[in-house]
Amino acid sequence: VENITTLVGTGTGGKLRLCGSEMSGLNTLDNAWLLADDGRFAAFGGMDDMPLEGLRADVVVDARGGMVLPSWCDPHTHVVYAGSREGEFVDKIRGLSYAEIARRGGGILNSADLLHTLSEDELYAQAMRRVREVMKKGTGCLEIKSGYGLNTADELKMLRVIRRISESVPARVVSTFLGAHAIGRGYGHAEYVDLVVNEMIPEVGRERLADFVDVFCDEGFFTPEDTARILDAAAPWGMRPKIHVDELASIGGLQVGVERGALSVDHLENMREDEFGVLRGSITMPTALPGTSFFLNMPYAPARKMIDSGLPVAVASDYNPGSTPSGDMKFVVSLACIKMRLLPSEAINAATINAACAMGLSADYGSIDVGKVANFFVTEPMPSVDFIPYAYTTPIVSRVFLGGEEIV
Ligand code: NIG
Ligand code: FE
Repeated sequence: VENITTLVGTGTGGKLRLCGSEMSGLNTLDNAWLLADDGRFAAFGGMDDMPLEGLRADVVVDARGGMVLPSWCDPHTHVVYAGSREGEFVDKIRGLSYAEIARRGGGILNSADLLHTLSEDELYAQAMRRVREVMKKGTGCLEIKSGYGLNTADELKMLRVIRRISESVPARVVSTFLGAHAIGRGYGHAEYVDLVVNEMIPEVGRERLADFVDVFCDEGFFTPEDTARILDAAAPWGMRPKIHVDELASIGGLQVGVERGALSVDHLENMREDEFGVLRGSITMPTALPGTSFFLNMPYAPARKMIDSGLPVAVASDYNPGSTPSGDMKFVVSLACIKMRLLPSEAINAATINAACAMGLSADYGSIDVGKVANFFVTEPMPSVDFIPYAYTTPIVSRVFLGGEEIV
């Protein structure tokens, strides 16, 4: 790639994540070129000293004065779902209660009812439309959760769809088993947790359908005790925890996750400041989902304070039918700046290197480093990197490359 005005997000120097003040350091190179070989970044440098000898590219891409960024990494999505819930959106605007909304076809259980009626092929087709959309918007790695099945057969159906997606797209897809997203229809609480532990996890494990395990540990959903039991049952199958905590209330899920080496704890809208200390020194990535706070008119995770206290932060879209029907990572970066007061450089690092780390993928993704997978996008010409979050509805992506190949 030639004639790049600014090559963004280069050289994290082998760091797998950026913490605290490191997050405002976004390495850039002006007037640059970039070489990908065999699907990976092979070299980059300044246009003035491009080594013409011995450097022959099969395909030369003219960036035409645009910038190049590492692809967004989205470490928390629920893009495999059936239909949509715009009725619930309107009901909420009208001021209906949660119970009334559930009666009228809103809520996780209603998404589960709808998913139950869909074939695997139809579910795959619906999800693929969303995955294609986000790839075109610059997402190169994404995590996808189950959690709208809520019985063994439908949870497995969702995970098979995620596997099929991962096998058919050039983006890197990782899968998370979220059987404990809500109590499945017809089950009692204890009965459902038993089902997750005794039946779902062994089946998911035997078929190797999930990289990670998740629990919606929150008021009215699953307790820290349920969460500990589920994480402990999934551990022998190699599923590492990435869990939903502190969205509605802080009830101890974060502590349970950190104690069990969770890769990430996500949401954190109602995180308490004394929980910062629990994260300190751990490998767990706190992951904020500002799109959810925006869509639900809820508090934002205290990302600014976490960074100021030296912690790392990642951001993700949470793309799902109920709390944020959008996987637009550029908008997530804008919200991180506008609503959580992150600097553009911090927000971009949160959506790339730290987001990759929240999926355990930052040795191979999340920055433009020689040897990493060549997932990147070329932007329209822009005055500066800060323009990206500033122009919060302007599309910026002009061309997308995943594994070194252009996608159309
Ligand atoms: O991450 N918080 C739990 N689950 C989803 C919302 C699910 C839904 O409403 O369908 C979330 O926001
Ligand atoms: Fe979620």
